[in-house]
Amino acid sequence: MSNTALITGASAGIGAEFARYHASLGGDMVITARRETALNALKNELETAYGVNVHVIAADLGNSGGAKSLYDAVQDAGIAIDILINNAGFGEQGLHIDHDLSRELAMIDLNVKSLVELTHSFARDMVAQGGGKILNVGSTAGMMPGPLQAVYFATKAFVNSYSQSIDEELRDKGVTCTVLVPGYVETEFAAVSGLEGTSLAKNGATAKSVAIVGYKAMLKGKLVAFNELKLNIALNWILPFAPRRLVLRMVKNMQAK
Ligand SMILES: NC(=O)c1ccc[n+]([C@@H]2O[C@H](COP(=O)([O-])OP(=O)(O)OC[C@H]3O[C@@H](n4cnc5c(N)ncnc54)[C@H](OP(=O)(O)O)[C@@H]3O)[C@@H](O)[C@H]2O)c1
Repeated sequence: MSNTALITGASAGIGAEFARYHASLGGDMVITARRETALNALKNELETAYGVNVHVIAADLGNSGGAKSLYDAVQDAGIAIDILINNAGFGEQGLHIDHDLSRELAMIDLNVKSLVELTHSFARDMVAQGGGKILNVGSTAGMMPGPLQAVYFATKAFVNSYSQSIDEELRDKGVTCTVLVPGYVETEFAAVSGLEGTSLAKNGATAKSVAIVGYKAMLKGKLVAFNELKLNIALNWILPFAPRRLVLRMVKNMQAK
């Protein structure tokens, strides 16, 4: 298998660290996000440091047609994708009814719809190519309901579920799909999602450490990748047995200001 990746949300945070790690292994890549200047700075950094080829395609994946035009731009550039990393996403702290519905729907468009569109298109190509790897960035948020980020948690539940099904459907065709489920990570996410000052947004992991855990799990074809053992234990072995109303209150308190 050759080694060209497409990484969404590469202008910042975990996505930029996926790009750095992939480049450190000698991989070429397409990087995408809305902020073209940040993408070009990353391109220069990685091409200089590692001698890899980095292709920048700025795109708003929250727009209807955004994922399709990204796919078309990759085809037009004649680039075959061996690794797809669906990482772009955002959240929104607060009561669902207080948010603009348009922002909640935009979150679904980015976190869910564009991820499905890109997975559908590139997975087909990977099967035709004889193999490939997909890494979808879900979240521990997808393993419980999330009052004060109701839509965000639900989008990540979708990503966690969808990714595992895709893996089972495609594994015998040479394509694996890993879902990375980080806990809190220190990135722009808290500011973008209005979570600063909440007890959730404290003492997070670094974006670099999380990206490396996810990338290595993807290479091994793991199904679900936690970045911390204690999260794995708490979410798989304790949370499912806790009273649901207690879990709801706990998550709400963690996200309250
Ligand atoms: N940080 C956490 O605590 C945490 C925990 C679990 C899971 N996650 C997930 O990890 C992923 C990466 O988040 P992060 O923490 O690295 O956040 P971040 O620093 O805010 O980065 C988000 C990335 O998504 C891109 N993006 C946002 N809206 C977009 C749009 N409409 N179209 C295209 N790209 C868009 C941003 O680029 P532009 O602004 O340039 O478009 C940026 O590159 C997300 O899916 C998030 O849900 C984060």
